[in-house]
Amino acid sequence: MRRLLPDPADLAPDDLPEVYAYPPDPGRPWVRVNFVSSLDGAVSVDGRSGGLGTPADKVVFGALRRLADVVLVGAGTARAERYRGARRPTIGRDAPPPIAVVTGSAALEPDLGLFTDTSVPTIVLTTAGAPAERRAALRAAGADVVELPDLNPATLLGELERRGLRRVLCEGGPGLHGDLIAAGAVDELCLTLSPLLAAGGAGRIAHGPGGRAPEGMALVSVLEEDGTLLLRYARAAT
Ligand SMILES: NC(=O)c1ccc[n+]([C@@H]2O[C@H](COP(=O)([O-])OP(=O)(O)OC[C@H]3O[C@@H](n4cnc5c(N)ncnc54)[C@H](OP(=O)(O)O)[C@@H]3O)[C@@H](O)[C@H]2O)c1
Repeated sequence: MRRLLPDPADLAPDDLPEVYAYPPDPGRPWVRVNFVSSLDGAVSVDGRSGGLGTPADKVVFGALRRLADVVLVGAGTARAERYRGARRPTIGRDAPPPIAVVTGSAALEPDLGLFTDTSVPTIVLTTAGAPAERRAALRAAGADVVELPDLNPATLLGELERRGLRRVLCEGGPGLHGDLIAAGAVDELCLTLSPLLAAGGAGRIAHGPGGRAPEGMALVSVLEEDGTLLLRYARAAT
């Protein structure tokens, strides 16, 4: 893998934690979003992102997880991608980051790998409006179920902050990403462009409420391997 910007260099996987380091102490949760897309903007192939991944994307995906305090994900993605717990410990800690899944419905099967195949309890961020029996079933499966007053980004991030989980890695999906953008809560976007044309009916990396002026983002770095571009953007200074 090579870095094209800011300063060209050959990179080894061991270099990635430094390349993608979070700000030392932003004083609040820092939201990094990570997506992979085809060149023509597809976010999935046959309903899943796996068909878009390349070896370089997988290496960076893993490195980003190892830097995070928590992996935040929408329920649609957890279901479609059959999520399970993260495997490798966060750098500097002895445990992997917990997965925190956002769901208004709490409609997650208790036998998902999220609950059965994880070394740290999965956090379920929901509200008391979700059916009580579903919340109870997820608790019985070992989940840390949190009933929040609402699932607005400020409330979600407030709960993560309360737990000391400030280095947030959001792995999507497009619905949750759209809510974060609408709330002005995205600090960073790591976007892998895979050298593929996918067509089909797949959506793009964010959808949801419009009406907000597009937010300017500044290019932080560009890595490349075998035609895959790994772009990192951060919120532009205002
Ligand atoms: N290419 C990539 O990098 C990538 C990454 C992630 C996902 N994907 C793809 O994206 C697709 C899934 O898209 P999606 O939009 O359904 O994903 P999503 O954002 O993960 O899921 C949406 C669901 O999450 C819950 N949710 C998220 N934000 C919420 C909020 N603020 N308030 C209340 N509920 C919230 C709701 O679940 P309930 O229905 O349970 O209430 C909602 O229906 C899949 O095909 C997946 O493969 C691709």
